Amino acid sequence: MLETPALASECRYARAVEMHAVVAARLWELIDAAIETHGRALIALAGGSTPVPIYNLLREMPLPWDQLTISPTDERWVQLEEPASNEGMLRRELLGPDAAGVELVSMARRAADPGADAAAADQTLARLGRPFDVALLGMGADGHTASWFPDARGLDVALSSQRHCVAVEPPATPEPRLTLTRAALLSTGNLLLVIGGAEKWAVYRDAIADPARYPVGALLQQQSAPLDVYWAAD
Ligand code: 6PG
Repeated sequence: MLETPALASECRYARAVEMHAVVAARLWELIDAAIETHGRALIALAGGSTPVPIYNLLREMPLPWDQLTISPTDERWVQLEEPASNEGMLRRELLGPDAAGVELVSMARRAADPGADAAAADQTLARLGRPFDVALLGMGADGHTASWFPDARGLDVALSSQRHCVAVEPPATPEPRLTLTRAALLSTGNLLLVIGGAEKWAVYRDAIADPARYPVGALLQQQSAPLDVYWAAD
C-alpha cells in the first residue's frame, strides 16, 4: 500500500445524492474559510457530468459570489456556445441570477490555436497572485483527471511545467484540451476528488496501489495538497 500522506479522507456513499450534499457543503465551507483569510476565494471546478448536481446545489446557496473567482480545471477547445464547453456548463449549472458578481476565468477563447489560449489563460491565472484555495476534480475510467489523459500529447508538460495552464492533445477526445498543470493543482489548498460507480472505484484503488499507471496518480502520490476523495456507488 502506497504511503499517501496527501490522502486526507476517503468517504464512500451508497447514494450519489448524499455525496452531492456533503461535497457542496464542504466547498461552501472552504470558500468561506478562504474569504475569511484572503478576502476572496479562488476555486477550480471540474467539467464532465459527475459534479453537475453539486453545482446545482451550490447555485441555490447564498454564496458570496462577488468574492469568488472560478476557473475550470480544464476545458475543451470549443466555442463557449458548444455543448462540450466546460465554461458553458458552469454558466448553465452553477451560476444563477445571484452570481452576477462572480469572476469566471475563460480558458478557451478560441484564439489562433490551443497553445495561444493556454498561454493567455496561464497569464490570467498568474495574475490571481496565489494558488487556488480549492479544486474539485473528477476522474475518467481511464484514470485521467482534469485533462491529463493517458498518452495525450503534452501530458508530460502538464505534469512537469511550472505554468498554470497548458494545452494537451488527447488521442481519446475529439478536440484539443486546455488543462491546469500538476504544479497548479498541487499548490492548491484543498483537493476534492469526486467519483461514482464501481468501475471508477476500482481504477482509483488501482491508482492508489500503482500511481505511475494512471495520470490521476499524480494527485495521489504527493505530499503538497491534502486530498479528500468522495465516492458514490450509483
Ligand atoms: C472534463 C473534466 C474531466 C472529468 C472526467 C470525468 O472536462 O471532462 O474536467 O476531467 O472530470 O472526464 O467526467 P465525468 O464526471 O463526466 O465522468
